[in-house]
Amino acid sequence: MHIFSISALNFRSYELVELTLNPGITTFIGPNGQGKTNLIEIVDFSANLQSHRSSLNSNLIRNSAPFAQTRVGVKEENKKIWIETRIEEKKTLKIKVNSNPVKKHRDVAGLIKSTIFSPNDLYLIKGDPATRRGFLDEVLVQNDRNYFELKSEYEKILKQKNALLKSVPKGDKNKSAAWSTLEIWNEKLAKTGSQIIYFRKKIIEALINPFIKNYNEIAPHTKDLQMSYNSNININNSTIEDIHAAYIFELENKKEEELARSISLVGPHRDDFEIGLNSLPAKSQSSQGEAWSLALCLKLAMFDLLRETHKPILILDDVFSELDQFRREFLLKKIQDTEQTIITAAVEEDTPKNLFGDKYFINNSEITNES
Ligand SMILES: Nc1ncnc2c1ncn2[C@@H]1O[C@H](COP(=O)(O)OP(=O)(O)OP(=O)(O)O)[C@@H](O)[C@H]1O
Ligand SMILES: [Mg+2]
Repeated sequence: MHIFSISALNFRSYELVELTLNPGITTFIGPNGQGKTNLIEIVDFSANLQSHRSSLNSNLIRNSAPFAQTRVGVKEENKKIWIETRIEEKKTLKIKVNSNPVKKHRDVAGLIKSTIFSPNDLYLIKGDPATRRGFLDEVLVQNDRNYFELKSEYEKILKQKNALLKSVPKGDKNKSAAWSTLEIWNEKLAKTGSQIIYFRKKIIEALINPFIKNYNEIAPHTKDLQMSYNSNININNSTIEDIHAAYIFELENKKEEELARSISLVGPHRDDFEIGLNSLPAKSQSSQGEAWSLALCLKLAMFDLLRETHKPILILDDVFSELDQFRREFLLKKIQDTEQTIITAAVEEDTPKNLFGDKYFINNSEITNES
């Protein structure tokens, strides 16, 4: 698929932007802070209904504007899809697909198949578990749109359980009538949560081969690269029913502690995945260069997985400057057989010399063909 049109009103630094894109490679060049990532964020938001850069949609609204609007046109084979959003503070996000209002986010999230790689992805390796969980959830939404609903449902239940835990007066923890209500929430939590764990574990298993394959191309002498899902629930048995039983068991175990500390201690919201390189955890032990390669290969694994069923769009936000010649060439090879690649760079010298395609310059959120 490819994006043939990007427009937005009052989105981040853009008062109004209207752009037509061709398939193939499109490069946006401009100094720091001029609106390159903001432009890409329009696509990101239309694809995932959330931004990689902000969990708060209202941050996307241009300073002091009442609302923001986006409209992205994507073409898959011969079918055109228009995705429109309207972001307004304290109001639910409004979405239209081909001019028809859409109530369920799951009908839109993941319609645009894309993978974004940016310098922030270093946090996938070095950052906190929430970043890695977010990555897995994104891969899952891109591969199966029902996952979006599952995740939203889990978050809703978790919020309600946390509110209950906080509402129980201190000192009254054990006797309170909260026990029975807590049981109801726990049952709901285990039902959705065990599915989330199951799907995340499965997606790790699907990512591992392309991940290792890509990494071996960058670092051919690597002997030992591993990746595994770490859950606070025993997931040795792999059916959803088994995970559900282990989940209930763990909830029972931690019930008193949860009440005493007023937080939910059990579930996929506290899980992580671990990458091991040469028998050491990459999070704490990998070098800066290794972490970069691992992050790149993880994102490319996501891209390769999507490619098994779709023709996804590859977005490379300001990454060439961080890569040495060898890794630039490796990335270039990936671009060759991609229907559309969108690239940003601060200066032209940061992009590979043999990069074909359309070139635009961004200055002060103005997009032109001239530098
Ligand atoms: N809601 C907003 N309203 C107005 N301006 C905003 C908003 N959010 C961000 N900006 C501005 O957008 C600019 C950053 O744009 P962007 O992140 O696209 O830069 P960039 O070209 O990608 O730069 P870099 O090369 O440093 O990554 C900043 O000047 C910031 O103040
Ligand atoms: Mg940027």
